[in-house]
Amino acid sequence: MMTAAVATPAKTAIRTEGLSVSYNGKPALKSVNIEFYENTVTALIGPSGCGKSTLLRALNRMNDRIPDAVTQGKVFVNGINIYDRGVNLTRLRREVGMVFQKPNPFPMTIFENVALGPRLHYGLRGRALEEVVEDALRKAALWDEVKDDLKKKSGLALSGGQQQRLCIARMLAVQPRILLMDEPCSALDPISTQKIEELIVELGKQYTVIVVTHNLQQAARISQYTGFLMYGELIEWGETRQLFERPQRQETEDYIRGRFG
Ligand SMILES: Nc1ncnc2c1ncn2[C@@H]1O[C@H](COP(=O)(O)OP(=O)(O)O)[C@@H](O)[C@H]1O
Ligand SMILES: [Mg+2]
Repeated sequence: MMTAAVATPAKTAIRTEGLSVSYNGKPALKSVNIEFYENTVTALIGPSGCGKSTLLRALNRMNDRIPDAVTQGKVFVNGINIYDRGVNLTRLRREVGMVFQKPNPFPMTIFENVALGPRLHYGLRGRALEEVVEDALRKAALWDEVKDDLKKKSGLALSGGQQQRLCIARMLAVQPRILLMDEPCSALDPISTQKIEELIVELGKQYTVIVVTHNLQQAARISQYTGFLMYGELIEWGETRQLFERPQRQETEDYIRGRFG
């Protein structure tokens, strides 16, 4: 770690070791070593194309779905390298959930959107299922807005900001510990953005949250830790305040002062 230690030692939830990804032989991520802490929000920042989404996807092997992608190095979750042979991908993606830039609810009711995961993964039904759905919608700060038409209204009939919170509820319903969010606010208006930001701060108290954002003010507002990437390299990472106020590297300083590009 490049910055001073925090007051309370944080527990590492996920850690990469020499993590590299290339597409068609072209490197997009170059030997990244970073740690993400429990009950902490970490922001990943950097110019467009620097590898933020690639890094995020490598953390739950989503890059496996891209035929031209080759991953090298290690990612440890609970001390287990997720790239080891025999790792159960269904279990991994349950543990390491993900939401994307554009909200993508399923074309079904609000209830079904959230119920699908726990029914499939844990065989829940009836009362137990209803409770998990309600709990997830509450944690996603959506319950009060949707509780009256849970089983009537389609997820697609919600506003953009509500759809994104629905996707967050859908992720939470399968009980992950690590939450990956790839520019979750970039398709949203300022008020919806503010709601999602408040939600991320709240979730950061209970989960390991990793958020990609191209919005530096947002990173500063919502995260305790920040990693700065450029050209596929992790230039610097550490406590957000320190990184913004006293960056260790010239590239970081130039980027956060708006001198880059
Ligand atoms: N599916 C893909 N196929 C080929 N190249 C890709 C793919 N996804 C990303 N890349 C390339 O990898 C680099 C990093 O992309 P990405 O991780 O999306 O960056 P960011 O999220 O920071 O904008 C870019 O040069 C991009 O063009
Ligand atoms: Mg991206």
